[in-house]
Amino acid sequence: MHKIIVTGGTGYIGSHTVVALQEKNYEVVIVDNLVNSSEKTVDRIEEITGIRPAFFPIDMTHQEGLRKFFRLHADAKAVIHFAALKAVGESVQQPLLYYRNNMLGMINLMDAMLEFGVQNLVFSSSATVYGTPDSLPLTEKNSTKPALSPYGNTKKIGEDMIEDVVKANPDFRAISLRYFNPIGAHKSGKIGELPSGIPNNLMPFITQTAIGLRKELLVFGDDYDTPDGTAVRDYIHVVDLAEAHVKTVGRMINQQQKADYEIFNLGTGKGSTVLEVIKSFEKTSGKKLNYRIVGRRDGDVEQMYAATDLANQELNWKAKYSLDDMTASSWNWEQKVRGLEEQDSFN
Ligand code: UD1
Repeated sequence: MHKIIVTGGTGYIGSHTVVALQEKNYEVVIVDNLVNSSEKTVDRIEEITGIRPAFFPIDMTHQEGLRKFFRLHADAKAVIHFAALKAVGESVQQPLLYYRNNMLGMINLMDAMLEFGVQNLVFSSSATVYGTPDSLPLTEKNSTKPALSPYGNTKKIGEDMIEDVVKANPDFRAISLRYFNPIGAHKSGKIGELPSGIPNNLMPFITQTAIGLRKELLVFGDDYDTPDGTAVRDYIHVVDLAEAHVKTVGRMINQQQKADYEIFNLGTGKGSTVLEVIKSFEKTSGKKLNYRIVGRRDGDVEQMYAATDLANQELNWKAKYSLDDMTASSWNWEQKVRGLEEQDSFN
């Protein structure tokens, strides 16, 4: 049984990846400081898979704590690094919080990996590194652009740091995965996205509006050059994304990499407009959504969708869930999550 360390394993994408890894018989060890997640997620993962992942409440900006942890887990075959702050707006308000947390965490992580001989790193990057696309679909060869936010910059700098560390250390290998727009939740309704406060992203805003937590959804702009005027994104089911991480880890462990540092886009290859997402949600939930068209949101790009050929070929992976699957599972989660939280508060 190969041991995999998952930082940020109680978070949204992390928890789904832990489940997918366990289902493929990997032994998972989670490191998370719980700043944006709950230890209850470890229980939920156990309820889904029947296996409790080991959990260590460690803040990765504390170098000594992380070194102690790695001393115990130097036999791990790979690290998947999700642990990071990710709110775009907050990062603009508090850039140093983002640079300290996301960059220092990565420096300490790679230092410890090198010290203890854990040589495979998977990095949770973002399509945000492409900025405004020069051409579509976005291939991994498209150029990256200056980031629009400190959050986006931490992803870009993270990729650059990894590239340099790989160059300097012949035994160290890494793969960055650039996610497009992850939505959806596990079919059990036991894990999913839990935004703190008012959601910034489209899908949680839709489901929170439908359940009555928000009055209305504002649709940002209908004057884009797209089929219905609203912006286009490549939404991908988080369970598909989790599966891609399992394939990525397999590629590393089986030494199938074609270069010591590789980059893959993770998307479906299909763009959907905001109104198409809303229509899909209304269809799968049977609920009418209260929404209103307003002006564009600052910093938004018109269209983004991935070329998926490289990931399809090299990772032997393809997204299989449809937009309807995604919106249905997000709604299932929204309807269950507060029940779960109430249950937790009694325990
Ligand atoms: C955003 C971030 C991106 C980050 C990603 C993480 C920005 C500019 N980009 O991507 O850096 O990696 O989240 O998930 O914040 N929309 C509405 N109404 C809403 C919310 C969103 O119309 O209340 C629209 C947006 O204008 C956009 C689409 O829905 O066209 C998707 O928005 P969102 O879910 O926030 O994702 P991105 O902006 O693509």
